[in-house]
Amino acid sequence: MDIRCESLSDYAAIAEVNILAFGQENEAKLIEEIRCSLGYIPELSLVAVVDNVIVGHILFSYIDLIGEESLQVLGLAPMAVLPQFQRRGIGSALVEAGLEKADALKEALVIVLGHPHFYTRFGFEPSINYKIISPFPVPEDVFMVKPLQNYQEKYQGKVVYPPAFWAV
Ligand SMILES: CC(C)(COP(=O)(O)OP(=O)(O)OC[C@H]1O[C@@H](n2cnc3c(N)ncnc32)[C@H](O)[C@@H]1OP(=O)(O)O)[C@@H](O)C(=O)NCCC(=O)NCCS
Repeated sequence: MDIRCESLSDYAAIAEVNILAFGQENEAKLIEEIRCSLGYIPELSLVAVVDNVIVGHILFSYIDLIGEESLQVLGLAPMAVLPQFQRRGIGSALVEAGLEKADALKEALVIVLGHPHFYTRFGFEPSINYKIISPFPVPEDVFMVKPLQNYQEKYQGKVVYPPAFWAV
């Protein structure tokens, strides 16, 4: 398996992976909207490739953290692996590659809304531990953050997602 940045010619396959993994089109549409937004970071849209076929995708984009300062942090969403390729470590490899790249880009913090069983293994913790508040009415343990090497204490406050995220 190879992990690399997305390119224009991957867009259709990435949409297909997301539609099949989630069983709906919302996440594929979200990806398209993020690509057209200021939050898009091409280096942080990664694909997993097996035998020249895209079998997984992960996207990190900028979202806002509003506290005493207004800061940009990374939101991890969406992530998908083709159903027949799940539970083989591909999702984990995509998360690890993304976190490594985010660190190399000197980003400070990654935020995710997801399954604690999956994300805690990468060092994600409930956001409340860092005084970071979810905009969604969800249990504390599913809204998580992963501080990177550039993290500083000023990263506190309420997370604000672009409107496109509320449609998912
Ligand atoms: C979540 C997803 C990307 C994981 O990819 P993957 O390649 O299967 O991940 P890995 O093989 O690296 O890891 C599998 C682990 O994730 C856990 N996991 C996967 N989906 C899960 C879920 N819905 N709830 C809880 N745990 C889940 C598995 O239990 C497994 O844990 P284990 O190692 O303790 O058995 C993939 O299952 C997927 O595409 N799911 C549908 C879309 C989705 O829910 N995306 C994530 C949104 S946060």
